[in-house]
Amino acid sequence: MAAVTIKSEWEIQLMREAGRLLAQVHEELAKAIRPGISTKDIDVACEKLIRGYGCTPNFLHYEGYPASVCVSVNDEVVHGIPREDRILEEGDIVSLDMGLIYRGYHSDAARTYGVGRITPEAEKLIKVTRESFFRGIGMARAGRHLHDISNAIADYVLSYGYGIVHDLVGHGIGTSLHEPPYIPNFPQRRRGIKLKPGMTLAVEPMINQGTGEVEWLDDGWTVVTADHRLSAHYENTVLITEGEPEILTLL
Ligand code: MF3
Ligand code: CO
Repeated sequence: MAAVTIKSEWEIQLMREAGRLLAQVHEELAKAIRPGISTKDIDVACEKLIRGYGCTPNFLHYEGYPASVCVSVNDEVVHGIPREDRILEEGDIVSLDMGLIYRGYHSDAARTYGVGRITPEAEKLIKVTRESFFRGIGMARAGRHLHDISNAIADYVLSYGYGIVHDLVGHGIGTSLHEPPYIPNFPQRRRGIKLKPGMTLAVEPMINQGTGEVEWLDDGWTVVTADHRLSAHYENTVLITEGEPEILTLL
């Protein structure tokens, strides 16, 4: 695998701006989530917001992906393709995963929301998934190792009896959406590479209510839980420093 890139101070400034703008897009879209809107409506709004900031949606046309955002509902884990006839309903949970390019630098972030009132069980899955990200990045600092992040996420999630998706992982990010290294969310025996200041990583636990097993739908993109129970996703682009990591995609 190619070497993990260390960003210069100037590149970090650009990554910060890419992250800040993406955080704003997420906040705007969060307000639009309600029963009755289609997943396509979310995509149209997303692309408009990203382009309105003078940026480019990095998911659009990525390996042929046809939209600016992945909108994954209920048992859909990731890569749900927006559709006019996919209408959000009260009680659904919906994950929005998207990224943008600002002056050549990529950001990537995902959140899961409840649509209207949702069950306490769904609420808990979303909360634990989000918290697992924070447990993970508690280990994301210079001197620690990559898999300290993975193990912290996994320990936390497994203590709730949830399933961790193994088939998809987090990743480095910079002048490409996906750079080395892979960042698994499940337990690792080896320590992985040593973390260094200037690394930028997209940490993204994908957590299932039931087992971690997933399947691909015939559209070639949508990943669903094999047992059709719920799945949640939480992701931010993070900068490694000597101290606390800097979360670039949160305001
Ligand atoms: N969900 C992936 C990630 O967060 C990227 C999806 S690429 C797309 O890294 F083509 F599906 F949009
Ligand atoms: Co990602």
